[in-house]
Amino acid sequence: MKIDQYSSLKEKLTSNKFSSIFILVDENTNKFCFDSFIEKTKIKQFNKIIINSGEENKNIDTCLVIWDKFNTHKADRKSLLINLGGGVLTDMGGFAASTYLRGISFINIPTTLLGMVDAAHGGKTGIDFKLLKNQIGIFNDPSEVILDSDYLKTLSKEEFLNGYAEVFKHSLLTDKEDLNFNSLIELDFYKDVGYIIDKYSKIKKEIVESDKFESNLRKILNLGHTIGHAVESYSFKSSEINELKHGEAITIGLITELYISHKHLNFPLSDLENIKKNVLKYFKKVDFSDKDIQEIHDLMIYDKKNDGSKINFVLLKAIGEPFIDQEITKELFEESFKFYSNSL
Ligand SMILES: NC(=O)c1ccc[n+]([C@@H]2O[C@H](COP(=O)([O-])OP(=O)(O)OC[C@H]3O[C@@H](n4cnc5c(N)ncnc54)[C@H](O)[C@@H]3O)[C@@H](O)[C@H]2O)c1
Repeated sequence: MKIDQYSSLKEKLTSNKFSSIFILVDENTNKFCFDSFIEKTKIKQFNKIIINSGEENKNIDTCLVIWDKFNTHKADRKSLLINLGGGVLTDMGGFAASTYLRGISFINIPTTLLGMVDAAHGGKTGIDFKLLKNQIGIFNDPSEVILDSDYLKTLSKEEFLNGYAEVFKHSLLTDKEDLNFNSLIELDFYKDVGYIIDKYSKIKKEIVESDKFESNLRKILNLGHTIGHAVESYSFKSSEINELKHGEAITIGLITELYISHKHLNFPLSDLENIKKNVLKYFKKVDFSDKDIQEIHDLMIYDKKNDGSKINFVLLKAIGEPFIDQEITKELFEESFKFYSNSL
């Protein structure tokens, strides 16, 4: 499968279809993935753009660096951008390409597990703005996504596990018994990673294909993200807790939102406790004070998925049975953090 993917890509890149090719990397994917990508594609004519890694650089300033390089090398509407990196890079590269000259083509080559199972697919591109996640962005599909697990060999253990936050989410949204959370946790997260990328990226792709612009079904992919995004943004500005990776924040969102599901829709307690126990085997618990929880609540009000000041959640009645647009009380939100921290 991998060989097929690269042979069609090679053909595309040498077909004179593109007036110029740009490859976007950060300092880590430049070091660990770039040579291998060049070796696999044999691509010769290109301009490399190196940006700084990290969520703190997923912003308009980094886009200016990318657009400036496009200008310097006279990119035109037939130019192509290849995004070689994790979710930060594919989100931002996709956005920079989609807005330059009203849109040039881009290809995503995800190099993190999170990118392979989630971020590289579905056409959500964007950047953060004033601490708010993905506040500026546009829906636009990459012309191709190449899934090559070879890139994961150089990923740190921490970043590798981060990808499992989105895999957990996909496994909670499926009604297929062989893919749901209980089947997933029986797998070897390292040895079975090829199977996991294949199966769980398809869950996302199927959902997205049926509702590209998130008017209905696609909203279910926000499970864990209403609280998760607010926790992630809060961790950047707070001096009380350490900065959290996207995946770490999403696991907090999943546990709290499943507790809310239990109270609001009778999500089974046994599943809730089993999920919490298993997720916390891989992700260290974070201590939140009452003040932290208040501030996270305030940040959530500004989340783009909310309508005015109402906070809409995706909740589960059971594994594989999501309900969208669920409103909850502030008390239940606060209670969910008590459950997360074990004081309930
Ligand atoms: N567009 C979507 O639908 C969608 C979905 C989920 C998440 N996201 C976004 O994805 C982002 C998180 O993505 P991420 O977890 O991939 O983070 P990331 O892109 O920051 O990558 C994590 C770290 O790993 C490094 N890295 C990447 N590949 C490597 C490799 N092969 N070897 C060694 N180091 C490597 C990066 O330089 C970075 O330091 C968030 O901004 C989130 O909002 C988007």
